[in-house]
Amino acid sequence: MSNLMVFSHPLIQHKLSILRDENTSVKEFRELVSEIAKLMCYEATRDLPLEEVKVKTPVAEATCRRLAGKKLAVVPILRAGLGMVDGMVDLIPSAKVGHVGLYRDPETLAPVKYYFKMPPDITERDVIVVDPMLATGGSAVAAIQFLKDEGVKHIKFMCIIAAPEGVKVVQEAHPDVDIFAAALDDHLNDHGYIVPGLGDAGDRIFGTK
Ligand code: PRP
Ligand code: URA
Repeated sequence: MSNLMVFSHPLIQHKLSILRDENTSVKEFRELVSEIAKLMCYEATRDLPLEEVKVKTPVAEATCRRLAGKKLAVVPILRAGLGMVDGMVDLIPSAKVGHVGLYRDPETLAPVKYYFKMPPDITERDVIVVDPMLATGGSAVAAIQFLKDEGVKHIKFMCIIAAPEGVKVVQEAHPDVDIFAAALDDHLNDHGYIVPGLGDAGDRIFGTK
């Protein structure tokens, strides 16, 4: 089974409490999604390999450690995943960005693909798929499968709020993919919304409702 890691860092939890608030403005919501993504990125990249380098300081030679040059890509699931990209690339500026366009059919909740564009060397990169919400898991499972079909080997999935139902579906479909979340909520309602959740992440980021 893939691992689920829920980040309990106080800064993440504090920002998440404001994000959930129905009175939070679109501007603040968008800023918070980006800030939370940045903090989560910091945690989720703890296992990046380092290599030893010698650096000449003004005083002496220091033995330091630098990132070992592993290539990364961030892949947001459109639309809402876009809100997490800036925070991620702030921390990993050399990351390339691929896009998977998916929306949930309002009746069936099944993901419908409308866009897919990856960097040409995506198979050489470790990929972090980002989407604020993991609800039924349909979108995450589909996006991860598209990447595997392209030949991507190492994939992580990062969301802000996960529903237990979605976590189970992703774990069953992709046991090799680690899942990072800022919160594991209670359940999904009859419309496939996460309870208590934060509502529709895409609408709240882009002000479309
Ligand atoms: C939301 C969300 C995820 C998906 C999660 O997107 O951003 O992509 O739902 O639900 P699932 O786990 O049940 O698949 P939505 O379909 O509302 O599209 P949007 O981002 O364009 O608003
Ligand atoms: N997508 C959202 O944006 N919110 C939910 O609660 C579920 C899916």
